[in-house]
Amino acid sequence: IDLAPYNTLGVQAKAQIFYSIAEAEQLKALYNEGLFRKKSPFILGGGSNILIKSDLKQPVLKILIPGIEVIDVNDREVWVKAGAGVVWHDLVRFCVENGYGGIENLALIPGTTGAAPIQNIGAYGVELKDVFQSLSAFMPETGNMKVFNAEECKFGYRDSVFKNQLKGKVIVTDVTLRLEKGPHKIEDSYYALRKYFESENVTQPTIQDVFDAVVSIRRSKLPDPALIGNAGSFFKNPIVSKEVYENLKNEFSDIPSFPADQNRVKIPAGWLIEQAGWKGKKVGNVGTYKNQALVLVNHGGATGEEVYEHAMNIQESVKSLFGIELVPEVNVIE
Ligand code: EPU
Repeated sequence: IDLAPYNTLGVQAKAQIFYSIAEAEQLKALYNEGLFRKKSPFILGGGSNILIKSDLKQPVLKILIPGIEVIDVNDREVWVKAGAGVVWHDLVRFCVENGYGGIENLALIPGTTGAAPIQNIGAYGVELKDVFQSLSAFMPETGNMKVFNAEECKFGYRDSVFKNQLKGKVIVTDVTLRLEKGPHKIEDSYYALRKYFESENVTQPTIQDVFDAVVSIRRSKLPDPALIGNAGSFFKNPIVSKEVYENLKNEFSDIPSFPADQNRVKIPAGWLIEQAGWKGKKVGNVGTYKNQALVLVNHGGATGEEVYEHAMNIQESVKSLFGIELVPEVNVIE
């Protein structure tokens, strides 16, 4: 099967074994047939955060598990449990429409609900971990189901245990979020959001306002994968010590930064890439997006190797200019 329709970068690659999974029970049946005995499977959600470098030999499981269930907790809180295959933005819209607050800042993030915890998706001042209650998963090594709480997920910036120790060992089947019925806590401290509300004269934004603002900002900055192949931010924003930052500031006085923790700052990778001269630049079939240098795009017909090579060239030039090593945020599949 051709995987091009299943990854938003739109690179060509083949899978020898491909299953669509519509319910968790199917995984147990495949386990009993011995499918996971030789090779751990490759789990495919929306395919919006992966770079497939070449054809895949491991079994590919496309997760389509549906369903949204609302669990009433008390007069202020609900738990919303969604199947791993639910499109993330549909879940956000459902929650905003029903007045459940907490994920409106995460509107329009591509991909599925099951993939959200893997990289602890985040945007505009909110991360999944802020509202995460638990997830259920099928464990292909043992054939059993397991529930993970937030602590067990070891969430970090665009990171979790599922990208590290448990990489390839967990198939998320559903995710439960802890949301507010109201009054809602509004997170509007992110610069782009505040600027948006100022220009629209919104003084007391509601969760619907935040949702609308995020949708509008993302549409203006980020390419729609349906129109131009991309996987969102290609690299993580590097986190450096204050000392390293001060040294850089001496040389590059307009270098932007955001506090990461007490002793470290986050530097926008998009800025570094732009300074290195890559913004909007096209090389062969690949390039960086004209409005956001952190997004690599496939202008059509790019191979996975070609995208990867381009990324490594960017990495090298940022390293030689700033001494900072960019680390991919997308999962690079060998
Ligand atoms: N910038 C530039 N040039 C560029 C792009 C950015 O100079 O071409 C600088 C500007 O100073 C700008 C700053 O970078 O103010 C921040 O840019 P932006 O608000 O676009 O955010 P980002 O740091 O590039 C991160 C996430 C995005 C998320 C946005 C909004 C990462 C790796 N990326 O991007 O997440 O939507 O913040 O919160 O943390 C994703 O993970 O795929 C993703 C799109």
